Amino acid sequence: METSIRQLQQEIDGFEIRNQKELEAFRLEFTVRKGRIAALFARLKEVAPSERPAVGQLLNALKLSAEAKADEADARFAETAGPAHPAIDISLPGRRSFCGSEHPVQKVLGDMKRIFSAMGFSIATGPELELDEYNFDLLNFPPNHPARDMQDTFFVSRGQEGGDVLLRTHTSPVQVRVMLDQKPPIRVICPGKVYRNEAISARSYCVFHQLEGLYIDKNVSFADLKATIYSFARQMFGTDVKLRFRPSFFPFTEPSAEVDVTCYLCGGKGCRVCKKSGWLEIMGCGMVHPNVMRNCGIDPEEWTGYAFGMGVDRTALLRYKIDDIRLLFENDVRMLAQFSA
Ligand code: PHE
Repeated sequence: METSIRQLQQEIDGFEIRNQKELEAFRLEFTVRKGRIAALFARLKEVAPSERPAVGQLLNALKLSAEAKADEADARFAETAGPAHPAIDISLPGRRSFCGSEHPVQKVLGDMKRIFSAMGFSIATGPELELDEYNFDLLNFPPNHPARDMQDTFFVSRGQEGGDVLLRTHTSPVQVRVMLDQKPPIRVICPGKVYRNEAISARSYCVFHQLEGLYIDKNVSFADLKATIYSFARQMFGTDVKLRFRPSFFPFTEPSAEVDVTCYLCGGKGCRVCKKSGWLEIMGCGMVHPNVMRNCGIDPEEWTGYAFGMGVDRTALLRYKIDDIRLLFENDVRMLAQFSA
């Protein structure tokens, strides 16, 4: 038994471990549970009981020296091989960074803003949470007048000191704020979100976007309004677009009109979108009512002005052939990603 141990020790000492493969072979031969050292341990019971402790000690020393040799080789390879998983694999294709896209409504709004900016309009914004006073009273909506029903309102708090608070139903309160703030001449557009408590469907939603325009100066006439709208429509919808001004009513303008453009999907021939009429309504407009001017501290004998307000979302739906307005507000990236170019 002692001779076997000594022989094995010599073999172990003479075993050259130069690489991982040889280390593996070394372990398989000597140190594993079914290796040659374990085989010697199994023979310990053949040894006379009196000699067992001494032989056992020799065997243990053998085992420890084999393990030490394997560990030493392991440490040696770990040093030279570097980390098992390199931090950077330069052969991998690069990761593409995710790039957002402009929302279709913002694209249309951007075009509208550019067109009016070029005509000398500056941009004004106002709060979406508005006071009844600005949304209705100062715009010449009499209290309890049915005109208020034209716009189903989300009230946030009623009967507060300082007036009812609501979500603005149109962008016209921004023109009030501008008139209270600035002296004429005034030439602004007011883009923004507005809210109405309407039944939600493919065609209408409780939130949408409007762009308001206001021009106040000496001797501004309805002809100026028409010229501005014509110029805008030609740049927005194409040079051969036709316009139609229909008499209408808004409490804050007099006279008032609604403006239709020839349906730019069918070119005026009549289709599903324009309901076979050949026309699409794009905005409301009119001459600023003298009462509104007075409410805002501007003398209507000295100044005149026009205002218009148009929807943005419907133009986005038509331009990008989206058939459900709800898609504009659901923030679904599968929809939005289609506008990334
Ligand atoms: N504020 C009106 C609406 O929301 C639109 C409008 C604006 C009409 C300005 C006339 C002048 O329907």
